[in-house]
Amino acid sequence: MSDKNKHPYCGPTGLNIKSFTCCNSSESIFAWFDNARTYYTHKARVAIRQTCNLLGPANNIEILVPSYNCGSEVDPIIKSGCKALLYRINKKALVDITDLEANITSRTKAIYVTNFFGFSPDIEVIRKLCDLKGLVLIEDCALSLFSSHDARKLGTFGDFAIFSFPKTLPVPDGGALVINKTELESSLWDLRKPQWTPVFKKMLPICKATVLRFLTRHTNQSILINILAGKSAAKRANLDDSIIQKMPDNYFYDETINNTSVSNTTYYLMGKFSPQEIIQSRRRNYLTYLEALKYADILEPLYRELPSGVCPLTFPVIVPKRNRIYSKLISEFIAAAPWWAGYHPDIPWDKYPDACFLKDNILALPVHQLLDTEDILFIADRLIKNIP
Ligand SMILES: Cc1ncc(COP(=O)(O)O)c(C=O)c1O
Repeated sequence: MSDKNKHPYCGPTGLNIKSFTCCNSSESIFAWFDNARTYYTHKARVAIRQTCNLLGPANNIEILVPSYNCGSEVDPIIKSGCKALLYRINKKALVDITDLEANITSRTKAIYVTNFFGFSPDIEVIRKLCDLKGLVLIEDCALSLFSSHDARKLGTFGDFAIFSFPKTLPVPDGGALVINKTELESSLWDLRKPQWTPVFKKMLPICKATVLRFLTRHTNQSILINILAGKSAAKRANLDDSIIQKMPDNYFYDETINNTSVSNTTYYLMGKFSPQEIIQSRRRNYLTYLEALKYADILEPLYRELPSGVCPLTFPVIVPKRNRIYSKLISEFIAAAPWWAGYHPDIPWDKYPDACFLKDNILALPVHQLLDTEDILFIADRLIKNIP
Protein backbone atom coordinates (compact mmCIF):
# COMPACT_ATOMS: atom_id res chain seq x y z
CA MET A 1 0.00 0.00 0.00
CA SER A 2 1.41 3.43 -0.89
CA ASP A 3 1.85 5.88 1.92
CA LYS A 4 -1.05 8.02 0.64
CA ASN A 5 -3.43 6.09 2.84
CA LYS A 6 -1.39 6.90 5.89
CA HIS A 7 -2.47 10.44 5.40
CA PRO A 8 -5.87 11.99 6.03
CA TYR A 9 -8.04 12.42 2.99
CA CYS A 10 -7.55 15.79 1.25
CA GLY A 11 -10.48 15.49 -1.14
CA PRO A 12 -13.49 17.78 -1.35
CA THR A 13 -15.08 19.03 1.82
CA GLY A 14 -17.71 16.77 3.38
CA LEU A 15 -19.71 17.21 6.56
CA ASN A 16 -18.55 16.76 10.11
CA ILE A 17 -20.37 16.56 13.41
CA LYS A 18 -20.01 20.29 13.85
CA SER A 19 -21.98 20.82 10.67
CA PHE A 20 -25.02 19.73 12.63
CA THR A 21 -24.42 21.60 15.86
CA CYS A 22 -23.59 25.14 14.85
CA CYS A 23 -24.69 27.90 14.90
CA ASN A 24 -26.78 30.60 16.47
CA SER A 25 -28.86 32.63 14.06
CA SER A 26 -27.03 35.93 14.51
CA GLU A 27 -23.84 34.25 13.21
CA SER A 28 -25.34 32.18 10.41
CA ILE A 29 -25.13 32.58 6.68
CA PHE A 30 -28.61 34.06 6.62
CA ALA A 31 -27.37 36.87 8.85
CA TRP A 32 -24.61 37.49 6.28
CA PHE A 33 -27.31 38.42 3.76
CA ASP A 34 -29.54 40.22 6.22
CA ASN A 35 -29.39 43.71 4.83
CA ALA A 36 -30.41 43.08 1.26
CA ARG A 37 -33.25 41.51 -0.69
CA THR A 38 -32.03 37.98 -1.23
CA TYR A 39 -33.54 35.12 -3.24
CA TYR A 40 -32.07 31.67 -2.64
CA THR A 41 -31.94 29.86 -5.98
CA HIS A 42 -31.17 26.32 -7.11
CA LYS A 43 -27.93 27.46 -8.75
CA ALA A 44 -26.12 30.73 -9.31
CA ARG A 45 -26.95 30.53 -13.01
CA VAL A 46 -30.69 30.75 -12.22
CA ALA A 47 -29.91 34.05 -10.50
CA ILE A 48 -27.89 35.25 -13.50
CA ARG A 49 -30.72 34.37 -15.87
CA GLN A 50 -33.21 36.30 -13.70
CA THR A 51 -30.85 39.29 -13.54
CA CYS A 52 -30.91 39.41 -17.35
CA ASN A 53 -34.74 39.39 -17.26
CA LEU A 54 -34.71 42.32 -14.86
CA LEU A 55 -32.49 44.41 -17.13
CA GLY A 56 -35.27 44.78 -19.74
CA PRO A 57 -36.02 43.46 -23.23
CA ALA A 58 -33.05 41.24 -24.09
CA ASN A 59 -32.63 42.24 -27.73
CA ASN A 60 -31.50 45.74 -26.74
CA ILE A 61 -29.04 44.74 -24.07
CA GLU A 62 -25.28 44.35 -24.11
CA ILE A 63 -23.45 43.15 -21.04
CA LEU A 64 -19.67 43.38 -20.70
CA VAL A 65 -18.27 40.19 -19.20
CA PRO A 66 -14.72 39.23 -18.17
CA SER A 67 -12.58 37.31 -20.67
CA TYR A 68 -11.40 35.02 -17.87
CA ASN A 69 -14.57 33.08 -17.19
CA CYS A 70 -15.93 29.69 -16.39
CA GLY A 71 -18.52 29.66 -19.15
CA SER A 72 -21.40 28.72 -16.90
CA GLU A 73 -21.87 32.39 -15.94
CA VAL A 74 -21.74 33.53 -19.58
CA ASP A 75 -24.11 30.88 -20.92
CA PRO A 76 -27.28 32.07 -19.11
CA ILE A 77 -26.59 35.58 -20.43
CA ILE A 78 -26.34 34.27 -23.99
CA LYS A 79 -29.42 32.06 -23.54
CA SER A 80 -31.41 35.04 -22.24
CA GLY A 81 -30.92 36.75 -25.59
CA CYS A 82 -28.69 39.51 -24.17
CA LYS A 83 -25.41 40.08 -25.92
CA ALA A 84 -22.32 39.15 -23.88
CA LEU A 85 -19.27 41.13 -24.99
CA LEU A 86 -15.88 40.54 -23.44
CA TYR A 87 -13.40 42.85 -21.75
CA ARG A 88 -9.85 41.81 -21.03
CA ILE A 89 -8.52 40.25 -17.88
CA ASN A 90 -4.73 40.26 -17.74
CA LYS A 91 -2.32 37.50 -16.70
CA LYS A 92 -2.55 38.57 -13.05
CA ALA A 93 -6.34 38.12 -13.17
CA LEU A 94 -6.83 41.90 -12.97
CA VAL A 95 -9.34 43.86 -15.02
CA ASP A 96 -7.82 45.82 -17.90
CA ILE A 97 -9.72 48.99 -17.08
CA THR A 98 -8.68 50.75 -20.30
CA ASP A 99 -10.08 47.89 -22.36
CA LEU A 100 -13.23 47.79 -20.25
CA GLU A 101 -13.86 51.51 -20.79
CA ALA A 102 -13.11 51.22 -24.48
CA ASN A 103 -15.81 48.56 -24.82
CA ILE A 104 -18.60 50.70 -23.36
CA THR A 105 -21.02 51.87 -26.05
CA SER A 106 -24.52 53.38 -26.08
CA ARG A 107 -25.93 49.82 -26.07
CA THR A 108 -24.07 48.75 -22.93
CA LYS A 109 -26.46 48.21 -20.07
CA ALA A 110 -24.35 46.43 -17.46
CA ILE A 111 -20.85 45.43 -16.43
CA TYR A 112 -20.46 41.92 -15.08
CA VAL A 113 -17.53 41.58 -12.66
CA THR A 114 -16.28 38.36 -11.12
CA ASN A 115 -14.46 38.44 -7.79
CA PHE A 116 -11.91 35.75 -8.65
CA PHE A 117 -11.00 33.26 -5.91
CA GLY A 118 -12.36 35.55 -3.15
CA PHE A 119 -10.15 38.50 -4.19
CA SER A 120 -11.50 41.69 -5.67
CA PRO A 121 -8.85 44.35 -6.16
CA ASP A 122 -10.82 46.16 -8.90
CA ILE A 123 -14.32 46.31 -7.50
CA GLU A 124 -14.28 49.89 -6.20
CA VAL A 125 -12.93 51.33 -9.43
CA ILE A 126 -15.56 49.48 -11.45
CA ARG A 127 -18.33 50.61 -9.12
CA LYS A 128 -17.23 54.21 -9.73
CA LEU A 129 -17.10 53.61 -13.46
CA CYS A 130 -20.67 52.25 -13.45
CA ASP A 131 -21.88 55.27 -11.48
CA LEU A 132 -20.16 57.63 -13.87
CA LYS A 133 -21.57 55.97 -16.98
CA GLY A 134 -25.01 55.11 -15.57
CA LEU A 135 -24.46 51.36 -15.91
CA VAL A 136 -25.75 48.48 -13.82
CA LEU A 137 -23.08 46.55 -11.92
CA ILE A 138 -23.56 42.78 -11.68
CA GLU A 139 -21.17 41.40 -9.09
CA ASP A 140 -20.44 37.69 -9.37
CA CYS A 141 -19.53 36.36 -5.93
CA ALA A 142 -19.73 32.67 -6.88
CA LEU A 143 -16.06 32.42 -5.89
CA SER A 144 -16.11 34.92 -3.04
CA LEU A 145 -18.65 33.89 -0.43
CA PHE A 146 -17.78 35.52 2.94
CA SER A 147 -15.11 37.81 1.44
CA SER A 148 -14.79 41.52 2.04
CA HIS A 149 -12.85 44.28 0.37
CA ASP A 150 -11.67 47.14 2.60
CA ALA A 151 -14.08 46.03 5.35
CA ARG A 152 -17.05 46.05 2.98
CA LYS A 153 -18.68 42.71 2.15
CA LEU A 154 -18.37 41.53 -1.43
CA GLY A 155 -21.83 41.32 -2.85
CA THR A 156 -22.71 44.81 -1.60
CA PHE A 157 -20.89 46.71 -4.38
CA GLY A 158 -23.07 45.45 -7.22
CA ASP A 159 -26.60 46.50 -7.99
CA PHE A 160 -27.07 42.75 -8.30
CA ALA A 161 -24.86 40.12 -6.69
CA ILE A 162 -24.73 36.43 -7.54
CA PHE A 163 -23.64 33.64 -5.17
CA SER A 164 -23.05 29.89 -5.57
CA PHE A 165 -22.89 27.93 -2.30
CA PRO A 166 -21.52 24.48 -3.27
CA LYS A 167 -18.20 26.06 -4.23
CA THR A 168 -17.51 26.92 -0.58
CA LEU A 169 -19.87 24.72 1.41
CA PRO A 170 -20.69 20.99 1.44
CA VAL A 171 -24.20 21.45 0.06
CA PRO A 172 -25.79 19.79 -2.98
CA ASP A 173 -27.10 22.96 -4.66
CA GLY A 174 -27.83 26.59 -3.99
CA GLY A 175 -27.14 30.07 -5.19
CA ALA A 176 -28.42 33.51 -4.40
CA LEU A 177 -29.54 36.61 -6.17
CA VAL A 178 -28.99 39.64 -3.99
CA ILE A 179 -30.69 42.81 -5.19
CA ASN A 180 -29.10 45.86 -3.65
CA LYS A 181 -30.84 48.34 -5.91
CA THR A 182 -34.45 47.32 -5.41
CA GLU A 183 -35.72 49.88 -7.98
CA LEU A 184 -34.45 47.43 -10.58
CA GLU A 185 -37.08 44.91 -9.53
CA SER A 186 -40.71 45.45 -10.59
CA SER A 187 -42.36 42.64 -8.60
CA LEU A 188 -41.31 39.91 -6.19
CA TRP A 189 -39.84 36.80 -7.78
CA ASP A 190 -41.80 33.57 -7.49
CA LEU A 191 -39.59 30.51 -7.16
CA ARG A 192 -40.51 26.81 -7.26
CA LYS A 193 -38.63 23.91 -5.66
CA PRO A 194 -36.12 21.99 -7.82
CA GLN A 195 -36.55 18.30 -8.63
CA TRP A 196 -35.14 16.06 -5.93
CA THR A 197 -33.10 13.75 -8.21
CA PRO A 198 -30.29 16.19 -9.14
CA VAL A 199 -30.11 17.30 -5.51
CA PHE A 200 -29.86 13.70 -4.33
CA LYS A 201 -27.16 12.94 -6.92
CA LYS A 202 -25.09 15.93 -5.77
CA MET A 203 -25.48 14.87 -2.14
CA LEU A 204 -23.79 11.52 -2.83
CA PRO A 205 -20.22 12.85 -3.32
CA ILE A 206 -20.63 14.94 -0.15
CA CYS A 207 -21.59 11.81 1.80
CA LYS A 208 -18.68 9.96 0.21
CA ALA A 209 -16.21 12.69 1.18
CA THR A 210 -17.60 12.58 4.72
CA VAL A 211 -17.10 8.80 4.98
CA LEU A 212 -13.64 8.93 3.42
CA ARG A 213 -12.46 11.63 5.76
CA PHE A 214 -13.72 9.66 8.71
CA LEU A 215 -12.16 6.39 7.53
CA THR A 216 -8.75 7.89 6.79
CA ARG A 217 -8.63 9.71 10.10
CA HIS A 218 -10.04 7.15 12.45
CA THR A 219 -9.42 3.71 10.97
CA ASN A 220 -6.92 1.72 9.00
CA GLN A 221 -9.39 0.60 6.37
CA SER A 222 -7.12 1.09 3.39
CA ILE A 223 -8.90 -1.44 1.17
CA LEU A 224 -12.26 0.19 1.73
CA ILE A 225 -10.74 3.61 1.21
CA ASN A 226 -9.21 2.55 -2.08
CA ILE A 227 -12.46 1.04 -3.27
CA LEU A 228 -14.40 4.15 -2.36
CA ALA A 229 -11.96 6.80 -3.55
CA GLY A 230 -9.71 4.98 -5.97
CA LYS A 231 -11.93 4.40 -8.94
CA SER A 232 -13.08 7.94 -9.50
CA ALA A 233 -9.67 9.38 -8.67
CA ALA A 234 -8.01 7.06 -11.18
CA LYS A 235 -10.62 7.87 -13.81
CA ARG A 236 -10.12 11.59 -13.42
CA ALA A 237 -6.37 11.21 -13.31
CA ASN A 238 -6.46 9.86 -16.86
CA LEU A 239 -7.98 13.01 -18.36
CA ASP A 240 -5.99 14.14 -21.33
CA ASP A 241 -5.50 17.76 -22.39
CA SER A 242 -8.16 17.77 -25.13
CA ILE A 243 -10.85 16.52 -22.75
CA ILE A 244 -9.88 19.11 -20.18
CA GLN A 245 -10.25 21.92 -22.74
CA LYS A 246 -13.82 21.09 -23.70
CA MET A 247 -16.37 22.92 -21.55
CA PRO A 248 -18.26 20.23 -19.62
CA ASP A 249 -21.86 19.71 -20.75
CA ASN A 250 -23.24 20.52 -17.32
CA TYR A 251 -21.76 24.05 -17.52
CA PHE A 252 -24.32 25.01 -20.19
CA TYR A 253 -27.51 26.65 -19.04
CA ASP A 254 -30.60 24.46 -19.03
CA GLU A 255 -33.73 26.59 -19.32
CA THR A 256 -35.81 24.00 -17.46
CA ILE A 257 -34.25 25.18 -14.18
CA ASN A 258 -35.49 28.76 -14.68
CA ASN A 259 -37.11 30.12 -11.50
CA THR A 260 -36.05 27.21 -9.27
CA SER A 261 -35.21 27.81 -5.63
CA VAL A 262 -32.64 26.27 -3.34
CA SER A 263 -33.47 22.74 -2.15
CA ASN A 264 -34.72 22.09 1.38
CA THR A 265 -31.55 20.06 2.07
CA THR A 266 -29.24 22.96 1.29
CA TYR A 267 -31.44 25.45 3.09
CA TYR A 268 -31.31 23.29 6.21
CA LEU A 269 -27.54 22.81 6.05
CA MET A 270 -26.87 26.49 5.41
CA GLY A 271 -28.28 27.36 8.80
CA LYS A 272 -25.60 25.20 10.40
CA PHE A 273 -22.38 26.67 9.05
CA SER A 274 -20.51 29.46 10.75
CA PRO A 275 -19.11 32.05 8.31
CA GLN A 276 -16.53 33.26 10.82
CA GLU A 277 -15.08 29.80 11.37
CA ILE A 278 -14.97 29.12 7.65
CA ILE A 279 -13.19 32.42 6.99
CA GLN A 280 -10.62 31.69 9.69
CA SER A 281 -9.83 28.16 8.49
CA ARG A 282 -9.56 29.15 4.85
CA ARG A 283 -7.27 32.08 5.64
CA ARG A 284 -5.05 29.94 7.85
CA ASN A 285 -4.76 27.34 5.08
CA TYR A 286 -3.96 29.97 2.47
CA LEU A 287 -1.20 31.47 4.60
CA THR A 288 0.23 28.00 5.24
CA TYR A 289 0.61 27.45 1.48
CA LEU A 290 2.29 30.84 1.04
CA GLU A 291 4.86 29.93 3.67
CA ALA A 292 5.33 26.32 2.53
CA LEU A 293 5.81 27.22 -1.14
CA LYS A 294 7.89 30.37 -0.73
CA TYR A 295 11.12 28.74 -1.93
CA ALA A 296 9.55 26.91 -4.85
CA ASP A 297 10.54 29.53 -7.44
CA ILE A 298 8.95 27.73 -10.35
CA LEU A 299 5.50 28.14 -8.80
CA GLU A 300 3.75 31.45 -9.09
CA PRO A 301 0.90 32.02 -6.64
CA LEU A 302 -1.68 34.28 -8.30
CA TYR A 303 -1.97 36.28 -5.08
CA ARG A 304 1.18 36.51 -2.97
CA GLU A 305 -0.64 38.38 -0.23
CA LEU A 306 -3.87 37.74 1.57
CA PRO A 307 -5.50 41.11 2.31
CA SER A 308 -7.60 41.24 5.46
CA GLY A 309 -11.21 40.30 4.82
CA VAL A 310 -10.47 37.95 1.94
CA CYS A 311 -12.00 34.50 2.35
CA PRO A 312 -10.07 32.54 -0.28
CA LEU A 313 -11.90 29.97 -2.36
CA THR A 314 -8.71 28.09 -3.26
CA PHE A 315 -4.96 28.71 -3.51
CA PRO A 316 -4.54 29.47 -7.24
CA VAL A 317 -1.02 28.91 -8.48
CA ILE A 318 0.53 29.01 -11.93
CA VAL A 319 2.46 25.81 -12.48
CA PRO A 320 4.34 24.28 -15.41
CA LYS A 321 2.65 21.19 -16.91
CA ARG A 322 -0.47 21.97 -14.96
CA ASN A 323 -2.60 19.12 -16.27
CA ARG A 324 0.04 16.52 -15.47
CA ILE A 325 0.48 17.77 -11.92
CA TYR A 326 -3.28 17.92 -11.50
CA SER A 327 -3.56 14.26 -12.53
CA LYS A 328 -0.90 13.26 -10.01
CA LEU A 329 -2.52 15.15 -7.15
CA ILE A 330 -5.97 13.82 -7.93
CA SER A 331 -4.64 10.28 -7.90
CA GLU A 332 -3.49 10.98 -4.34
CA PHE A 333 -7.02 12.06 -3.34
CA ILE A 334 -6.10 15.75 -3.26
CA ALA A 335 -8.93 18.03 -4.40
CA ALA A 336 -6.85 20.13 -6.80
CA ALA A 337 -8.54 21.54 -9.91
CA PRO A 338 -7.30 22.64 -13.36
CA TRP A 339 -9.24 25.85 -12.89
CA TRP A 340 -11.71 26.74 -15.65
CA ALA A 341 -9.79 24.65 -18.15
CA GLY A 342 -12.84 24.32 -20.41
CA TYR A 343 -13.57 26.87 -23.14
CA HIS A 344 -17.06 28.15 -23.91
CA PRO A 345 -17.55 27.49 -27.66
CA ASP A 346 -19.15 30.89 -28.45
CA ILE A 347 -16.23 33.05 -27.31
CA PRO A 348 -13.52 34.22 -29.76
CA TRP A 349 -10.68 33.02 -27.54
CA ASP A 350 -7.88 33.97 -29.91
CA LYS A 351 -8.49 37.62 -28.95
CA TYR A 352 -7.85 36.88 -25.27
CA PRO A 353 -4.44 35.23 -24.88
CA ASP A 354 -4.05 36.29 -21.23
CA ALA A 355 -7.33 34.67 -20.24
CA CYS A 356 -6.25 31.52 -22.13
CA PHE A 357 -2.96 31.60 -20.25
CA LEU A 358 -4.85 31.58 -16.94
CA LYS A 359 -7.18 28.83 -18.13
CA ASP A 360 -4.27 26.66 -19.24
CA ASN A 361 -1.92 27.20 -16.31
CA ILE A 362 -3.77 27.78 -13.05
CA LEU A 363 -3.93 24.92 -10.64
CA ALA A 364 -6.31 25.56 -7.74
CA LEU A 365 -5.22 23.90 -4.52
CA PRO A 366 -7.88 23.24 -1.88
CA VAL A 367 -8.03 25.45 1.23
CA HIS A 368 -11.43 24.32 2.46
CA GLN A 369 -12.49 24.47 6.08
CA LEU A 370 -12.06 20.76 6.86
CA LEU A 371 -8.38 20.78 5.91
CA ASP A 372 -5.91 21.46 8.69
CA THR A 373 -2.31 22.66 8.64
CA GLU A 374 -0.95 19.14 8.40
CA ASP A 375 -3.10 18.50 5.31
CA ILE A 376 -1.90 21.68 3.64
CA LEU A 377 1.76 20.86 4.31
CA PHE A 378 1.16 17.41 2.85
CA ILE A 379 -0.41 18.88 -0.30
CA ALA A 380 2.39 21.45 -0.66
CA ASP A 381 4.95 18.68 -0.32
CA ARG A 382 3.21 16.53 -2.94
CA LEU A 383 2.99 19.51 -5.29
CA ILE A 384 6.71 20.26 -5.01
CA LYS A 385 7.61 16.60 -5.49
CA ASN A 386 5.52 16.40 -8.65
CA ILE A 387 6.96 19.49 -10.36
CA PRO A 388 8.61 18.26 -13.58
C1 LIG B 1 -17.77 32.72 -11.59
C2 LIG B 1 -18.94 31.80 -11.69
N1 LIG B 1 -20.17 32.32 -11.70
C3 LIG B 1 -21.27 31.54 -11.75
C4 LIG B 1 -21.16 30.17 -11.83
C5 LIG B 1 -22.41 29.34 -11.88
O1 LIG B 1 -22.57 28.68 -10.66
P1 LIG B 1 -23.69 27.56 -10.49
O2 LIG B 1 -23.03 26.27 -10.84
O3 LIG B 1 -24.09 27.61 -9.04
O4 LIG B 1 -24.79 27.89 -11.40
C6 LIG B 1 -19.91 29.58 -11.83
C7 LIG B 1 -19.78 28.12 -11.91
O5 LIG B 1 -18.74 27.53 -11.88
C8 LIG B 1 -18.76 30.41 -11.76
O6 LIG B 1 -17.53 29.90 -11.76
